[in-house]
Amino acid sequence: MGDRLNLIQQEALASIEQAKDSNVLEEIRIKYLGKKGELTQFLRGMGKLPPSERPIMGQLVNKTRRSIESALTRKNEAIERESLIKRLKDETIDVTLPGEKPQLGGLHPLTKVLNKITDIFFGMGFNVAEGPEVELDYYNFEALNIPKNHPARDTQDTFYINENVLLRTHTSPAQIRVMEQQQPPIKIIVPGRVYRSDAVDATHSPIFYQIEGLVIDKNITMGDLKGVLDIFIKRMFGERTRTRFRPHHFPFTEPSAEMDANCTACEGRGCRICSNTGWIEILGAGMVHPKVLEYGNIDPNDYTGFAFGMGLDRITNLVYGIDDIRLLYENDIRFLRQF
Ligand code: DAH
Repeated sequence: MGDRLNLIQQEALASIEQAKDSNVLEEIRIKYLGKKGELTQFLRGMGKLPPSERPIMGQLVNKTRRSIESALTRKNEAIERESLIKRLKDETIDVTLPGEKPQLGGLHPLTKVLNKITDIFFGMGFNVAEGPEVELDYYNFEALNIPKNHPARDTQDTFYINENVLLRTHTSPAQIRVMEQQQPPIKIIVPGRVYRSDAVDATHSPIFYQIEGLVIDKNITMGDLKGVLDIFIKRMFGERTRTRFRPHHFPFTEPSAEMDANCTACEGRGCRICSNTGWIEILGAGMVHPKVLEYGNIDPNDYTGFAFGMGLDRITNLVYGIDDIRLLYENDIRFLRQF
């Protein structure tokens, strides 16, 4: 019996020595030391021995078990050590290699200036609304009190899709759409793309951007209009910027005005940018015409309001000193990278 025990031990130790991973080791452990393992079977067989031989045999079996167990432990540790060394080698990173620089995009100057304008109006409690670019004649003209024979309705100026549908020529139609949806108080700006059938040159583009403003509530006055726009200009171009209002005419406001800011390039002394006047026209504005309120289902006896509309392209060019609107739309990456 001692011989058989010896044989089992040698066999076990040899296969442990050859094992390549911990799964194989576990199989070996089960084969020899498991419940149905060879050594366990052997212990069971000891019942047949004469009682005097049992203690000696028991000691031998235990010794064999211990030697197999410690061989398993040692081999296990060796395998773990090796795999750690291998992993460390595989995962080595050369931190001295130069990194790959990803090409980062940037915001278009129009977007940057729009974000700034939006922030300023957010700060004064305005919300942003939007309207469709393909618009009904009704919203673009009719409901804004622009009569049928008005020059703006000429096909020379407007892209018509059919008799009733056109590409909006300004963001003002959103005024009516918002009034239809919402009762006062209304306090919104509407940024968006507008279209006019203009030939392209340094100051004209068939597509450009406007930002509309509309405030309607009880007791809104021209003073509110001036206050809001003055704060806007100062936050946009600097605290020292002054504004002035000139009388003007728009069909959808009464009274109407145009607002100038003093030229930020020459601070009002007069230069090429302001055509030596010291002033730059920034926007159109006025008190919402009572007829327009009625088109929007708002009672002009209860409510008054003001509106304004400005060209985003124009303001962007002023902010960055760009003198040609085409640069904003050609998207030459060498130009855009400068912002
Ligand atoms: N819609 C006008 C335009 O395209 C701009 C404008 C002027 C908008 C006065 C207004 C306003 O809301 O009150 O030229």
